[in-house]
Formats: sequence, structure tokens, C-alpha cells
Amino acid sequence: MNNKITTSAPGKLMLLGEHAVVYGRPCLVTAVTVRIHVTVSRQGTPGLTVNAPQTKDLRFIEKAVFHATRSFGASHDGLHIETVSPFTGVYGFGSSSAVTTAAVYAIGLLSGRQVSPRQTFDISYDTVMDVQGVGSGFDVAAASYGGTVYYRNGDIKTIEAVPFLSGHTDAHLVIGYSGVKSSTVELVTQVAANMKTYPEKVTRIFDAIADLVSEGKAALEKSDYEKFGKIMDFNQEYLRDLGVSSGKLEDLISAARRGGAWGAKLSGAGGGDCMIAIASSDKLEAVREAITRAGGEVVNADPDAQGVRIETTDNQAELFVVVDKNDNILGFRSRADCHGDTSLIHRAAGVAVFDSGGRVLLQKRSLTKDVDPGVWALSSAGHVKKDEDYETCARRELKEELGISAPVVFAGKFFYRGAHETEMDSVFTATYDGPFIPNSEEVEEIRFFTKDELLRKLLSGEIKLSECAYQSLKTIRFL
Ligand code: MEV
Repeated sequence: MNNKITTSAPGKLMLLGEHAVVYGRPCLVTAVTVRIHVTVSRQGTPGLTVNAPQTKDLRFIEKAVFHATRSFGASHDGLHIETVSPFTGVYGFGSSSAVTTAAVYAIGLLSGRQVSPRQTFDISYDTVMDVQGVGSGFDVAAASYGGTVYYRNGDIKTIEAVPFLSGHTDAHLVIGYSGVKSSTVELVTQVAANMKTYPEKVTRIFDAIADLVSEGKAALEKSDYEKFGKIMDFNQEYLRDLGVSSGKLEDLISAARRGGAWGAKLSGAGGGDCMIAIASSDKLEAVREAITRAGGEVVNADPDAQGVRIETTDNQAELFVVVDKNDNILGFRSRADCHGDTSLIHRAAGVAVFDSGGRVLLQKRSLTKDVDPGVWALSSAGHVKKDEDYETCARRELKEELGISAPVVFAGKFFYRGAHETEMDSVFTATYDGPFIPNSEEVEEIRFFTKDELLRKLLSGEIKLSECAYQSLKTIRFL
């Protein structure tokens, strides 16, 4: 079982539909590339301990622990939580929702669960509502799912992925910080007071905003960013009518439009925080300059960021050996390159360790691995590094993952194509009865299996074997 997990969750920016979303209308929100990191570990000390210097309101973490441990049937006793964040509440990127989401996800993984975005969302939403009382949960949806999301609150919550700018080189989102910190709770309360006094007028505004969100979604689906800009402009007019804009935000929005943006609006609760503009490549610099000249701070963050995720312990810069289909060396590429490009065939070596009774040792991979976290794999396996041959790699992995030195015998080779990588795999066998010293950063658990026992557990679904381990065991005719 892992004793320590680090996760991260992104911040968010509202593209269209703020305030109306609190009243059951849809909105469009994008996750941004500014991430908060949360490390959850199990320590010997009793109770919960938290070290989160950048988190203003620790209740988000404490309640996340309460809701997550209850949902995952885990204990909060001995949990220690640390957070590291490049963003505080300053820009209104939703740091409280991000820290909540990252904590919930980490606690789930630490309890040995495979946690879905929906589960993360549901538990994080309950946590945020418990602390804050108001809010639509759009920020939690962005942190849990990532990308760009069409979101609607209600008995059944709609969360739908929408394309936004990814792979598009001619349109850009510019973010301008007004320098004024705003309070979402105060602004939502102010709008609620307006709703009470002028229900028809405010309802009309919300319905009009809902129409804009639908049109905006359609524009994004067609990559029509010029139209999306116009829709942002219209949305801004309604936000001004609601009374949530400010002189400073209006200055930055007008400046962005004068700089040639297709459209601009405030983003979030209003009153301060950030405005956003959408602009073509040839106007990008002019828009950024115009915002700066008007007294705004252009924030460097990109939209459509990945949702909550494990921060892997694997070194992404490590060089692997790239080969052709006949295993001739072509060159060397990083782990990050090899794991994102299936045309880069790279060498790997695995060892099937048998005890003197003929049972095979398998390992459950650590949840912090970048490939196949939490699934069962061969006794030990790894990628052949630059300056290594297969056998050196096989012996190194035995030492690193299981803490043993044992003679290995070459048993076969196969070509493996996974969803994200392509390998040339050599399989070795070794005989060893233990003791083993598994590396807890790489290996969650090890166990010997007879052939019958393994087949039974695979068929019943009790354990999940990685495709690569399955092919290795077939190559050596164990399966
Ligand atoms: C705040 O960023 C956006 C609001 O719509 C509130 C919410 O949806 O929780 C004003």
C-alpha cells in the first residue's frame, strides 16, 4: 500500500455564464495551467496534520478529508497533508476548489481506489458547499475534469467536454488581472438581493445569458472564435446590467477591444479579479499591451489544462534506447517523448522471478507510476536506458524494485504496442525465494502466484494484469 501520494489540480476561468449558473443556467468554464499540488501521507502520529501555508481557509482541506475518508471508507487518523501552490486566491482562479479537488483525489488513491472524475467532482462539490454555502460547482467541475466544460448545476448535473483553442494557432485567450481582489460570496449575495427585488428583470437577464452560452458552445464546436468573441461582448453587457462589473474591469475590457480583440468580458464573480479577451495571432501583442497600458496585469496561463492528476515520481527527462522493428538502435529519446509517441519503439526488459516451487512473483505497480498505475505487472520490469543493454537493465530493475541481486536468463522477446507507447521487450527469468525489499515508491505489493491461482484471479476480475505482463508470461509460456 502506498503511504504517500502527490496530486495536482488546475485553476479555472469562467468563459461565459457566471452568476446565471448559480440559478440553474449553463456556463462554459476552462481549466488553466496554474496548478496547486497536494501531498497526502500516512504517518505514525495520531489525528490529522496540515501544512498549507498558501491556503487561506483550511476548512476546505479539513472538510475534504472528512468527506473523502467517509466516502472511501478510510480513516483520517495519521493523515498528513501538505500543499504547494503558485497561486493563492489572488487572481480568482479558484484555488480553494483546486486544493479541495486535489486533496479528495489524493485521499481516494491513498485508500487504494481508482477514482473517477465524477466521484472526485461529487465529493469535492459536497466539500465546497459545506464550507462556502453558495456556488454552482463549476470550478470543481473544471478542476475534476479539466479541459473546457459545459456545466449546468441542478438535480442532475451536466458536465460535457467542449473543444477550446487546443491545436488552434490563430486564436488566443488573454487574461488580465484588475489588481482588485473580489469576494465571490459577497457578489453572489448581492445578485441574490437583486433577484429578490427585481425577479423578472434578473430572470430575463439569466435566460438571455443561457442563450449566449448555447450559442457560444456551438461557436466553439465550429472553432468560430470571432463569433465567440462577439458572444463574450454580449455576455459582458448583461453582467454590467446585473451590477457586477467595475470601473477597472470596464477599462481593461475596452482597452482589449481597442487593441483589436474579437471580444472581452469579466470572468468570474466580477467586482475585480480577472477579465479575459479572445484575439487573433496578429492582434495578440496589441491586446496584451493595451491591457497593460490600461493598468492591468497580463497573467501568463493557458486554457484547456489537464484536470486533477497524480504527479508522477518518474523522471521524465531520462533517455531511453529507440530502435527499429528489428531491434537496431536508432538513437535516444526522453521518457516523456517515448510515452507520448507510439512511433518511437523503445527497449524494455522484464524479469519473471520464480520461487523453487515454480510460482511466479508479480508486483502491484505503485499509484505514482506514469504507466499502468495500480495494476499487477511482472516481478520487475523497466526501460533500457542509454548506455545499457537488456540484461544490465533487467538486473538493475531487480535491484531497484525488489532489492535483490540474482542471475537472470534470457527467455524471449516480443513487440508490444500500448495506447501511449511502443516497446521492444526482452523477458528474463530468475529463481529466488526471498527475502525481497520492495521499493515502496515503485511497488505497492508483491505476491507469488501458482499458474491456476493466477488464471482464477484474472478470470474473476479480482486482479488486473498489465498487457505487457500478460505478453511476457505468454512469451515464457507460463500463461
Ligand atoms: C464565480 O467565479 C462565478 C459565479 O457564477 C459563482 C459560481 O458559479 O459559483 C458568480
